[in-house]
Amino acid sequence: MSNISVIGAGLMGHGIAYIFASAGHKVSLHDAHAPTLESAPKRIEGLFELIGTDKAGLVNVSYHADFAKAVAQADFVFEAVAEKPEIKQAVFTKLDELAPASAILCTNTSAIPIKTVGEKVKNQKRVIGTHYWNPPHLIPLVEVVQAEFTSQDTVDRTMALLESVGMTPVHVKKDIPGFIGNRLQHALKRECIALVANGVCDAETVDKVVKQGFGARLAVIGPLEQSDMVGLGLTLDIHKVLIADLDRTPGPDPFLVEKVAKGETGMAVGHGFRKWTPEQAAEVRARLNNFLVDSARNKAKHS
Ligand SMILES: NC(=O)c1ccc[n+]([C@@H]2O[C@H](COP(=O)([O-])OP(=O)(O)OC[C@H]3O[C@@H](n4cnc5c(N)ncnc54)[C@H](O)[C@@H]3O)[C@@H](O)[C@H]2O)c1
Repeated sequence: MSNISVIGAGLMGHGIAYIFASAGHKVSLHDAHAPTLESAPKRIEGLFELIGTDKAGLVNVSYHADFAKAVAQADFVFEAVAEKPEIKQAVFTKLDELAPASAILCTNTSAIPIKTVGEKVKNQKRVIGTHYWNPPHLIPLVEVVQAEFTSQDTVDRTMALLESVGMTPVHVKKDIPGFIGNRLQHALKRECIALVANGVCDAETVDKVVKQGFGARLAVIGPLEQSDMVGLGLTLDIHKVLIADLDRTPGPDPFLVEKVAKGETGMAVGHGFRKWTPEQAAEVRARLNNFLVDSARNKAKHS
């Protein structure tokens, strides 16, 4: 069992703490904001209840207002503080001084290059990106991002740890914006927005095509697996006709920019790409949550 330190007990940090504590690791959790740290035990207990995991694992978490105490014994540190380069760099400078020299230092940044987060660390070989998805206790993927300075040993040990607690780590071999998942997600969104902006269909139709069409098989067969299944010749024939016609707007689509400028920012205000009543918005959130919780409970039952 390893000593895991988690820095930041917010939305992501408390979920990351749950993942390791429920798997039997000792977790030391720190947050600079006292009320967040105080509310963390209740929120973590809530995750044990939600997923139906044995609450005996709750004793594995200790809570520290003192940064140095939180990291003093760490084998791995997972940083999940605010998405600001200067805040993350300051945390990593402290980690470099206060965590054991052997500790692996992981950042959960969504978009800041790993090389920026670890810029001021002396032993940079042990700095790595671990990009969890929200909510981390329900979505298994973690993108393990290797910066130029990250050693292979750091990659191997981080992948092994994540696998051992039932997560699905993937190795991202280059420190590029959006890693893999967000590049794919936003490549799709770019075309979705262009289809609506160009009057091909409305937003509801885009969502229907994804959910009832190719999305229906995406959870069981990936896009490249699917190309292999039908034969690469077909993919090539389609690309000869289609690729040149896909959207290539070199920045955010003006349709999206205009929506945000008009305040049409989504469910919270009742109008985004689509119109939403509070009931409809609540139904979508419940549908997503129920689906993810059911998957996590099934996984916990069979592990
Ligand atoms: N929310 C998401 O969907 C999501 C998904 C993937 C990755 N991330 C990334 O995870 C990180 C955390 O995001 P979040 O959504 O949990 O944010 P959050 O605001 O819920 O939590 C961040 C916590 O960090 C604490 N904090 C800030 N500065 C600190 C410091 N110097 N020392 C100790 N604690 C400090 C804050 O008090 C807060 O509790 C960000 O880098 C974010 O980009 C978020």
